[in-house]
Amino acid sequence: MRAARYLRWFLVSILVLFIAIQLVRPARSNPASNPSANLMAHATPAVAKIFSRACRDCHSNETQWPVYSQIAPISWLLAYDVREGRDHFNYSEWTSIDPDDQDKLLGGICSLTRRGRMPMPKYVWMHREAKLSATDIEALCAWSEKMRDTIQ
Ligand code: HEC
Repeated sequence: MRAARYLRWFLVSILVLFIAIQLVRPARSNPASNPSANLMAHATPAVAKIFSRACRDCHSNETQWPVYSQIAPISWLLAYDVREGRDHFNYSEWTSIDPDDQDKLLGGICSLTRRGRMPMPKYVWMHREAKLSATDIEALCAWSEKMRDTIQ
């Protein structure tokens, strides 16, 4: 019966650990931002729709945090991706990005989606609606190339 006792202790420890880690709650904030500073102010409705369904959660201040984002350790992983995503490219704060970086980001929107690197595959796995069709990618590329010409 010793084995059964160890197993019980093991399961209780896992449970206690799971409860304890819930105390470490990452910030899941959506900072306020000015709509006129948003890159989407310059997007066609079709392009804005693609961004909403495939990029918004990680690259804007309008993240929709799912219910499971409340639960550690998932909460930590999601908060990390959103922080990294916003650090690299936050389209809600587009006008505060310097023009050279804007140019690179617009190039990246086309090349990364073409290569299947964005949206991140693990995101598409959880959010089927974020999957991009060839037509979506061509729309993003055509629009982002035009946007690049407007950058001084
Ligand atoms: C699950 C979160 C997530 C989603 C969804 C997502 N991204 Fe990203 N993206 C990231 C992270 C994290 C990085 C930075 C690290 C990296 O490059 O892998 C990044 C980097 C980028 C970069 C490069 C920024 C740089 O510094 O060069 C571009 C451009 C980009 N993403 C565009 C998009 C576009 C366009 C979409 C939607 C079609 C999208 N991403 C969807 C998380 C995401």
